[in-house]
Amino acid sequence: MSLPMHEAVMPLAKQLKETHALSLAEYETLIRYRTPEAAAYLAEEAVKVRKEIYGNAVFVRGLIEFSNYCKNDCLYCGIRRSNRSAERYRLRDEEILACCDEGYGLGFRTFVLQSGEDGAYSDERLCALIRRIKEAHPDCAVTLSIGERSFASYEKLYQAGADRYLLRHETADQAHYETLHPKEMSFAHRMECLQALRQIGYQTGCGFMVGSPGQTPHTLAEDLKFVESFRPDMCGIGPFIPHHETPFANAAAGTVELTCYLLSILRLIYPPVLLPSTTALGTIDPKGREKGILAGANVLMPNLSPRTVRKKYDLYDNKICTEEEAAECRGCLEARISAIGYKIVTDRGDIRK
Ligand code: 5AD
Ligand code: FES
Repeated sequence: MSLPMHEAVMPLAKQLKETHALSLAEYETLIRYRTPEAAAYLAEEAVKVRKEIYGNAVFVRGLIEFSNYCKNDCLYCGIRRSNRSAERYRLRDEEILACCDEGYGLGFRTFVLQSGEDGAYSDERLCALIRRIKEAHPDCAVTLSIGERSFASYEKLYQAGADRYLLRHETADQAHYETLHPKEMSFAHRMECLQALRQIGYQTGCGFMVGSPGQTPHTLAEDLKFVESFRPDMCGIGPFIPHHETPFANAAAGTVELTCYLLSILRLIYPPVLLPSTTALGTIDPKGREKGILAGANVLMPNLSPRTVRKKYDLYDNKICTEEEAAECRGCLEARISAIGYKIVTDRGDIRK
């Protein structure tokens, strides 16, 4: 039994596979009236095109969460400044470098430096740090994920050797953006930052949460339209998961089903895009990361932060892998990925356009 609108979905899925684009209204229909049949079809096609470009390789990035101080107050995020019970920490430069060294030995060739928006890390300090990492590991890519900064700052960090930048747009709908963020943050500025990063020359990543409060098939369609036109090198999506010390403590989490459906769609919109199967996806389902890969994702971002700080980088509740050492996660992922017929590779994992 399927309603008339559900019958529109398979033809749209097939059209997406052929043309890599749909109208805003069509994306909305594809999401709102999705069926298990369409999900299976999109996943199969997504896996096919991903295989053509990347074979069965899965890229890994070593994530170093180097500070959880944040001047922002995003309503969904556990390290927002008004969360007084967050235990704040900062890693010293030496500690960050030690994480990279350990990661290198484990086969990582990309390091992602992530933090809250922490004023303690000046351009000068970050530039020196990036130079030291690139000197020690010239065959590695450095990715920054440190939020909104000025054009001049982004330029300096790029000159110092940073290769990539992740800045999730969070939602491409301005009104929705404003319900997720405090007044002093602006949707326009976030989008300007993404354009600046691209213009400077970074391999640029955007992304959004799935199931964030107030999200609708319409706002998701806007996200897809944005990805279609921006063509990011990377797109990070994962389920929203409530954090108990935030205004969204009682909101529902996003689902594995919708996250995987969107991963397949993103793969078909822009076949070469680097798509992580996120820790958040692994948090809401013990097989979530495998399901993400099987839906079309091709990147994993395990944690390289020292175990002592892992629990403190507490964006959402029940985050996985806070007790394990970097080497344990590496081994665990190796086994999980080979069990589904893929292979983790020792490679920078650049986009193959
Ligand atoms: N649930 C899921 N993802 C979250 N992020 C922040 N808070 C949450 C949450 N409660 C995501 C945001 C941010 C990225 C680093 O983590 O999308 O850009
Ligand atoms: Fe961390 Fe499995 S990936 S324990």
